[in-house]
Amino acid sequence: MCGIVGYIGDKDACEILVEGLKRLEYRGYDSAGVALLADSRIDVMKTPGKVARLEKMVSGPRPAKVGIGHTRWATHGEPNTVNAHPHTDCTGKIAIIHNGIIENHSALKTKLISLGHKFRSQTDTEVIAHLIEEFYSRTSNLEVAVRLALKDVDGTFGLVVMSASEPDILVAARRGSPLLIGLGDSENLIASDASALIRHTRDVIYLHDNEIAVISRKNVSLKNLDDEAIEREAEHLTFDLEQIEKGGFDHFMLKEINEQPETVLNAFRGRLIDDEGISKMGGLRDVEDKIANAKRFVILACGTSWHAALVGKYILEQYAKIPVEVDYASEFRYRNPVLLDGDIVWAISQSGETLDTLAALREARGKGAPVYGIVNVVGSTIARETDAGVYIHAGPEIGVASTKAFTSQLAVLNLINLLVARKRKTISLEQGREIVAEMHRLPEKIQKILDQTDQIEAIAEEFKESRNFLYLGRGVNFPVALEGALKLKEISYIHAEGYPAAEMKHGPIALIDENMPAVFIALGDSTYDKILSNIQEVRARKGNVIVIANEADGRLRELAKHIIEIPKTLDILSPILSVIPLQLLSYYMAVKRGCNVDQPRNLAKSVTVE
Ligand code: M6R
Repeated sequence: MCGIVGYIGDKDACEILVEGLKRLEYRGYDSAGVALLADSRIDVMKTPGKVARLEKMVSGPRPAKVGIGHTRWATHGEPNTVNAHPHTDCTGKIAIIHNGIIENHSALKTKLISLGHKFRSQTDTEVIAHLIEEFYSRTSNLEVAVRLALKDVDGTFGLVVMSASEPDILVAARRGSPLLIGLGDSENLIASDASALIRHTRDVIYLHDNEIAVISRKNVSLKNLDDEAIEREAEHLTFDLEQIEKGGFDHFMLKEINEQPETVLNAFRGRLIDDEGISKMGGLRDVEDKIANAKRFVILACGTSWHAALVGKYILEQYAKIPVEVDYASEFRYRNPVLLDGDIVWAISQSGETLDTLAALREARGKGAPVYGIVNVVGSTIARETDAGVYIHAGPEIGVASTKAFTSQLAVLNLINLLVARKRKTISLEQGREIVAEMHRLPEKIQKILDQTDQIEAIAEEFKESRNFLYLGRGVNFPVALEGALKLKEISYIHAEGYPAAEMKHGPIALIDENMPAVFIALGDSTYDKILSNIQEVRARKGNVIVIANEADGRLRELAKHIIEIPKTLDILSPILSVIPLQLLSYYMAVKRGCNVDQPRNLAKSVTVE
């Protein structure tokens, strides 16, 4: 999500860092900063906003030949100067840049404060700077101090540290966040992404999880976090800049679809209490009781976020037994809605800038309701204007068609459901534990679906000339049918409609013939037999049927032209899996029709107009 670059050599470090940060900016861009080491002191310069602003701030030749730089996509603490990276320890002699999330940062911070450390920011990263300082004061060795500090850390990191006391090295470490070292001639670089390096070198060493690297001008040594040396050959990069930015995928949308095992994990990270079968979310800590005692939730959103809200309604009503209204933000704001005492209004938005959603939440606040957010972009307007909220931590979503944000919104709605249901005692401890256990299994199950891409691509090839599509699902998977239809129309320009499967007989069935494919979501739940009857109705009219199923039985095999099997999970979590084949299907349909997948016609990523 964020971008990291580090340099040690004989050139102007600042210039190299800023140029590298510009290359990384597509990954996240709410603030940027550099730390430069010269004459045994570290100078930190940072600013909110784009790298261009940092560039102006640091302009002119600078003596430092060693430095680290960072472009931030906020996870903890709003995007401002203090929260921007690099972060330093109390003495200002140790500086760090970090990607990832430190799950136990609150506990570590409390401990470090009791030891006398003074904190400046709200970030989880600053905790590591102080932890390293603590170990450095005992060992006087940066590599050892970093290694010991990381033993105390839970969560993910790709980080680079430097110390004014050891000016000839950078120390880097990785767990879950990518880092690679660029090998130059009497200079070495480190970055989170090859795009920041390839102007200087194409010879690189990738750091693996739980490894630490000590990088000097002429040397790179690798160890694991247990202090055992590692030998690794350098690789020569051949791909171009555009390929690197898209992570080797042809489009950002495909990259983002493939990121979902990790983004769903990130939405859950540090928020599940396994033993107690409950969730905790920092942004809701102060309002947990208010949420649990609410009489009704009203959820406002647009587009894909509205589909997520609708899934939320099914989940929350079934488990937390709380009435839920879902409204299009654009309708809510103009229909003089009735809000009652005990209502809590939620706004869901990936961008946090959608004008209709913003106006609707202002309308709700004007009527005196508490408004909470479920947002991706930290520090966005909706995040700032809500009373409390949860970030979904999906990272920057660049493709106009929302994919990973949707599954992360569903993950967070499930966390809220778990919290409310356990607090209201509408589910037992055992049920809570079962949900938590299944949440942990989801990333692996998502990956299994992503491994079936070839089958989905072949289906797209067969149906790419169709002019119309129907998407049908029931219960919690009805909103997924809506989302599948939206994905198809927005990027492939094929007309598609989503319906609750049982509604078909009330009208849409008239459309069905051999030219009208129907995509069913027929998972092995209580509605399975009923959906089979709906599929029969389509087959009887010669319609082609594509089915998303768990394990297809004989009856289904007889009826469906194509069956895409997905792993079984709990009903309430199933939309997180069932939507993925639909995302892939629309992606490949669009590619095969020659459409501009990442920037479809007439659409904008963030709709800030009425
Ligand atoms: O940023 P938001 O979640 O508020 O955006 C809402 C919609 O504009 C958005 O989901 C839109 O429908 C997407 N293009 C769907 O892929």
